[in-house]
Amino acid sequence: MIMPVRSTRSHTSVANHVKKTPAQAGVFYFLENKVPVNKLIIFFLSLCLSSVAIAADMANGKVLSAQCSACHGKDGLSRDPEAPNLAGLSALYIEKSLVDYQKGARHDRRMSLIAQGLKKSQIKDLSAWYSAFELTAKVPDI
Ligand code: HEC
Repeated sequence: MIMPVRSTRSHTSVANHVKKTPAQAGVFYFLENKVPVNKLIIFFLSLCLSSVAIAADMANGKVLSAQCSACHGKDGLSRDPEAPNLAGLSALYIEKSLVDYQKGARHDRRMSLIAQGLKKSQIKDLSAWYSAFELTAKVPDI
């Protein structure tokens, strides 16, 4: 019978030579450091709680939208021909647009300035607010 030869190298030394993705690095961290199960549970519970904490606050979005309504309309339907409607856009799209204006991936002399003044949580709140508007569209009768 052929017995498998046990490697003398530890997991750590092999692992150090392998390029790891951040997720793999996390798993290796737990394995190599033998993190006790109760600490793991606390870690995952805190992840769940933190995602609750960053959930969007639509009511705050409504308050914040006062600074947007001059151009985008109180009802999210713009009166300014250069400003698009925000009512009913997906939260994902609104959030991405505002982050893009902030980071310079998208540029507009007004929006870039306005987005600079918004915190991440405020962007989420505004996105939740405008995305909750319900729209009905009337297709032109031609
Ligand atoms: C001074 C007028 C003005 C104000 C105030 C303003 N916007 Fe805008 N907004 C614009 C214009 C103009 C555009 C189109 C810019 C472009 O062409 O990229 C725009 C674009 C956007 C877009 C991209 C929409 C799309 O369809 O791509 C979002 C999202 C947005 N604004 C959100 C906001 C929010 C949220 C506020 C308030 C915090 C706000 N804006 C305040 C004028 C304004």
